[in-house]
Amino acid sequence: MKKKQRRRPLKRRTKKNVSRAKSGKKPASHGPRRARRTSSPARSARDITRDGLATQSGPGVRRKGAATRRAGPALRRSADSSRLRDLDSLLDRILAEARRFTRAEAGAVYLAARGRLHFNFVQNDALFKDEGAALKQEYLTSVLPVDKTSIPGYVAATGKTVLVDDAYRVKKGAGYAFNAELDRRTGYRTRSVLAVPVVARNNAVLGVLELVNAAGGRARFAPGAALYVSQLAANAGYAVENARLTREMAFRMVEMAALRDPSETAAHAERVSAIASRLYLAWAKKRAVSPEERRATREALRLAAILHDVGKVAVSDVLLKKPGMLTPRERFLVRCHTVYGARLFLNTSSPWDRAAAEVALNHHEQWNGGGYPGRMADLRARVIVFGPGKRGKEIPLLARIVAIADVYDSLVSRRAYKKPWTEDEAREFIRSKSGVLFDPELASLFLAMPSAIRAIETRYRQRAVAAPRGR
Ligand SMILES: [Fe+2]
Ligand SMILES: [Fe+2]
Repeated sequence: MKKKQRRRPLKRRTKKNVSRAKSGKKPASHGPRRARRTSSPARSARDITRDGLATQSGPGVRRKGAATRRAGPALRRSADSSRLRDLDSLLDRILAEARRFTRAEAGAVYLAARGRLHFNFVQNDALFKDEGAALKQEYLTSVLPVDKTSIPGYVAATGKTVLVDDAYRVKKGAGYAFNAELDRRTGYRTRSVLAVPVVARNNAVLGVLELVNAAGGRARFAPGAALYVSQLAANAGYAVENARLTREMAFRMVEMAALRDPSETAAHAERVSAIASRLYLAWAKKRAVSPEERRATREALRLAAILHDVGKVAVSDVLLKKPGMLTPRERFLVRCHTVYGARLFLNTSSPWDRAAAEVALNHHEQWNGGGYPGRMADLRARVIVFGPGKRGKEIPLLARIVAIADVYDSLVSRRAYKKPWTEDEAREFIRSKSGVLFDPELASLFLAMPSAIRAIETRYRQRAVAAPRGR
């Protein structure tokens, strides 16, 4: 009995952290009054812990209840996520876990940058099964303000968790409004919503995890689900922060290279990474690669592609910025960026570093053997001597993928020495060089997904303008 008496007030306090919009069917106590009494996500997470619902060790965690055991597998998978280094891979995983746990039909992860929320990941079983579906891009290219004009905006602005039973029946006094713009554009019907903040160690809101339509819209999210998802998001916050730091470090390296070669910008690196990841996915699906291997490889590829030209930090900017033709010796020195880049990652053994070395070294190899640096006798030798060009599948898969993504994005981008090519011109170039410069299988997969590539170009070019350092 004593134990029950101690638990009761903690449980009541926990529920106050969750705001449920008054939908007309709920008793008055579940309405705006409750919405005003929500608390910060950090406090909410602590309360969940005190209520015995969390499985993790940490301050204040002493016992595990039945609810903990239900949440256990999801939280363990979430903890596994903290090993993911790439931010996009991590967010994708966290969103999938939260949806699986709550049986939500759809969901999205937004990251906050400069007072706005950017969609980073969106999953919706009713609208798009395929990652490159055109409708998905309606979401991914959308941006929300951090304010009370939308549910995610409100969560980001206040740090509160919000539960809504019917998005179209949110009462004015709830403190937030439902922004129906995306429903109008996509034809989707949002009903129940659960939105929780993703919070950093210092309690700053990094973003928002939003789940939509429990059981396909036939149910509402239970308050218990909000507590579990809050815990997932609390775990995610640390992992997101770490992945963000890794990504920012990678982009800092890219920016250093960009000081030498202004054409190799962070925005170019980001687009190359996204295109390469999408192309690998198409290849992996065709080859029936297991979901686990697919996820691990994509994650490594994402970072490796960002860093494909990082070796340019070691090349003189006099050469990289030289107008007009380079002499053969100068061309060789510029081409050494492949070797310098690979050397940065040679002394480590993680799969990410191996992928980064592989891509940096081989992204200028050509399918017909005409590329560089070729088969070198000693990658670490003080004097760099290129070998005979690698051919066909001798060139590592990830490098063959990045080669297509890099060339395509360079062609459609403005450079000091050329105007941007049109999409058709760039695609025609890839087609004409299939089997010559590029792996023919990858080239045909690339050419078969024009809308996905166009969406990536649009999305990341918008983001480069809106939030150059925002992720
Ligand atoms: Fe390069
Ligand atoms: Fe590049």
